[in-house]
Amino acid sequence: MEKVIDQFSVRSGTYSGSANWISDPALIRAHISAAGDRPRGQMLELCCGTGMVGRNFQADGWHVCGVDLTRGMAEEANRFFPCVCSPAERVPFMDRAFDLVLLRQAYFLLDDGQQVLAEAHRLLKDDGLFILSQTVPFSAADAPWLEHIHRTKQAQLKEFFTEETLARELEKDWFAVAQVHRLAVRENITRWMAAAPELSDAKRAEVCSLIADAPEPYRSIHRVAVAGGEITEDWNWVIFAARKKA
Ligand SMILES: C[S@@+](CC[C@H](N)C(=O)[O-])C[C@H]1O[C@@H](n2cnc3c(N)ncnc32)[C@H](O)[C@@H]1O
Repeated sequence: MEKVIDQFSVRSGTYSGSANWISDPALIRAHISAAGDRPRGQMLELCCGTGMVGRNFQADGWHVCGVDLTRGMAEEANRFFPCVCSPAERVPFMDRAFDLVLLRQAYFLLDDGQQVLAEAHRLLKDDGLFILSQTVPFSAADAPWLEHIHRTKQAQLKEFFTEETLARELEKDWFAVAQVHRLAVRENITRWMAAAPELSDAKRAEVCSLIADAPEPYRSIHRVAVAGGEITEDWNWVIFAARKKA
């Protein structure tokens, strides 16, 4: 956990603008629509970072709280809604306190993902909803090269998930998937790398070239483009809406 804290501590002030996906309106809307038309109640955003998702749920009528391990991130989120600095493995809230628990783009960083799922299960009301989302490969065809990119970029990556392996993880003990939403978000790799101060210049250049010079079929699946000195590509997002197992 110390290395995760180090990585996100140096990024907390600039994090919100460090990649398109963080505030992409279609991606945020997809998370809100995954919650369906249920009454707006208590929502908890786990590993909330600067709270970009929670802020938008708050604007949609939810009463939002957040949790993040990195103090700088929790402090940023706390400007918008109450946020505690705590590991998602042990969250200081009572059983069944929430109607909705959400975790975006952090499951692959967790030392013990099943423990976080157990916490989400404990924190949710019996009829509550858990939303789990992250970037995954589009298919088996782009998975190996995407894993290579992620392992090069993210030293703290604990496991590389596909949609299928993430669903299995979710359904192992604690949840049953009720709905799956998918969408592609256009990412600017040049911007993403310029805002990664935890990486050396050489590592940033390596990630850029792994994408700009990616082999087929990765290149066409991700619609990699290099224009005006900028590298862009599509990222595939999966959003699971899941119900508690009894
Ligand atoms: C890639 S950022 C995503 C932030 C936010 N979920 C979003 O979608 O904008 C990952 C976040 O997870 C947090 N994190 C990682 N491991 C954690 C843990 N075990 N408990 C709580 N937060 C954690 C990091 O501090 C960081 O803020």
